[in-house]
Amino acid sequence: MPSKLPHQISSFDEYREVYQKSVTDPESFWAAEADTFVWRKPWDRVLSWNFTDPEVKWFSGGQLNITENCLDRHLAERGEQTAILYEPNEPDGKVVKLTYRELHAQVCQVGNALRELGVGKGDRVCFYMPMVPELAVSVLACARIGAIHSVVFAGFSAQALADRVNDADCKVIICSDHNRRGRKNIPVKEVVDEALAIGCPSVETVLVHRNTGEDISWDPSYDQWYHEAVERQDANCPAEVMDAEDVLFILYTSGSTGKPKGVVHTCGGYMLYTAYTFRNVFQYSPGDVYWCTADIGWITGHSYILYGPLLCGATTMMFEGVPTYPDAGRFWQVCEKHRVNQFYTAPTALRALMARGNEFVEGHDLSALKVIGSVGEPINEEAWEWYHEKVGKGKVPIVDTWWQTETGGIMISGLGGLSPQKATFAGYPLPGIQMALVDKNTGEELTGNPESGLLCVKYPWPGMLRTTWGDHERCQKTYFSTVPGMYFTGDGARRDENGMYRIVGRVDDVINVSGHRMGTAEVENAIDEHPLVVETAVVGYPHDIKGQGIYAYVILAPGEHDHERLREEIIETVRQEIGPIAKPDKIQFVEELPKTRSGKIMRRILRKVASGETDGLGDTSTLLNPEVVTSVTAGRL
Ligand code: PRX
Repeated sequence: MPSKLPHQISSFDEYREVYQKSVTDPESFWAAEADTFVWRKPWDRVLSWNFTDPEVKWFSGGQLNITENCLDRHLAERGEQTAILYEPNEPDGKVVKLTYRELHAQVCQVGNALRELGVGKGDRVCFYMPMVPELAVSVLACARIGAIHSVVFAGFSAQALADRVNDADCKVIICSDHNRRGRKNIPVKEVVDEALAIGCPSVETVLVHRNTGEDISWDPSYDQWYHEAVERQDANCPAEVMDAEDVLFILYTSGSTGKPKGVVHTCGGYMLYTAYTFRNVFQYSPGDVYWCTADIGWITGHSYILYGPLLCGATTMMFEGVPTYPDAGRFWQVCEKHRVNQFYTAPTALRALMARGNEFVEGHDLSALKVIGSVGEPINEEAWEWYHEKVGKGKVPIVDTWWQTETGGIMISGLGGLSPQKATFAGYPLPGIQMALVDKNTGEELTGNPESGLLCVKYPWPGMLRTTWGDHERCQKTYFSTVPGMYFTGDGARRDENGMYRIVGRVDDVINVSGHRMGTAEVENAIDEHPLVVETAVVGYPHDIKGQGIYAYVILAPGEHDHERLREEIIETVRQEIGPIAKPDKIQFVEELPKTRSGKIMRRILRKVASGETDGLGDTSTLLNPEVVTSVTAGRL
């Protein structure tokens, strides 16, 4: 099979030219890119769409398997090249290098093991695993056999895991025994056991990867060892032939309503979108070592640790550890050790490292770096400058990449060193991406520059979500109803006089804590589970390291309470309902919440109080209970 790569843009002038073509004739543009992949059957139609239902189909009638494009087609040319470079938690631990040939063989073996367990095309498999090579291998194995993967970040609680397993009716859960992250030992299998005890009726098998070798409890009616199931399998596994619009995976993410939703991505469009964006944003050249520090439990890991890089025949690193273990120099030590060429991380990590002092970054040889990237939240100017000066030594280009779980891949970003860069601005939309700013009051598109408004997309792109699992109406309501005819991102943005975009942040009830998306309603529901809590309102407030912190206003049941103890209990409740990432940073007990006459909580006021902007609360006279503002403000933490 041939191994072509997506077209790589090589200058900013070329970017402008390609962009123009991509919007004048999007179908020819994307068809030419799709042509660089291996298809079992060519497509009949490039695109059919409407943003009303919505219904979007790319490459209808086309058939393919994404793993043939990630693996098989690279074997002839780069079978012996490292595909996955694995750096463990401990600096002196064993580095694992899987060549494309080895990865292919392992994916096939796991694919066969899953087929033996009765998993077939369209079945859902849930992952609850640390960052170990087996996670990458078995996610790809699902794609190999046409099963739908649903990776759940292994920091979520048993309840959150059970919710996700049940929403998608997963047949199998693949997990590890334990996990070491930094100094922590996380009992992964125990959480899966707890989720099953809560009730996951669709689960037939739990496949357990032996990671640390520690004792775990075992129920032979569903537990099986991963190595036993896999070892005996043949290293040849015919790939399931998938329609371009068959589901590749589900990934849960938070929205402004209570329950996380399963964002659905499909095979063909996601494939070419992740490959195209990877190659162009990171300006990846064959032989480069690329490292994205995300976890595969998030979209960044899916698109830019696994699929994008592997589709481009890259060497992609997977890191088990954390940025601050054994010390705050770990990232830079790893960059030096593996001569990393492209490095991609989140602003929250940069801010945390910056706070530990420059000595951890100085003294490491970072001369191999060619592009450094940022993702997940707005990068503040101070962190951008630090990244630029201390990591990039003032000369390595920064790509500030804006995108979302729903977009499948990067939407707005510079292209390596080709594009103009400006601190805190993500930059220009990628080819094929037709962004719009919309006036939030009139719903009209704002076409001039500079402008500020709701960030929307006017035209489909191959990597976009197709639906939300089991609830298409929710997809319609969340993304396609705010601005009719457009995809609404939930973000607000500013466009400068040159058309560069700066993302201001969410305009809905979603907060971004350390680059993790959290629905305020979701955290409120969790807090409300505490028996003494009557009502809760959660808002975000500026936090030096996390970007946003979680501020909870809580009304307690009448009576005398030990507030300190209750704070601890509430935090524990949230840990159990969602996981430690959703823990409130501040909990203020209040008598009442400011409400409108129709009974809606006035979050605008609560956000201002939490942020310390108590002078500019605006008009509070329309409130049902204006006097509450004074007591809420007085009790601010
Ligand atoms: O608010 C934006 C912010 O993260 C949200 C998407 O979160 P999630 O689906 O978890 O995906 C994160 C990784 C792609 C967006 O709506 N966001 C993401 N990247 C940026 C950003 N905000 C500003 N600048 C970015 N580069």
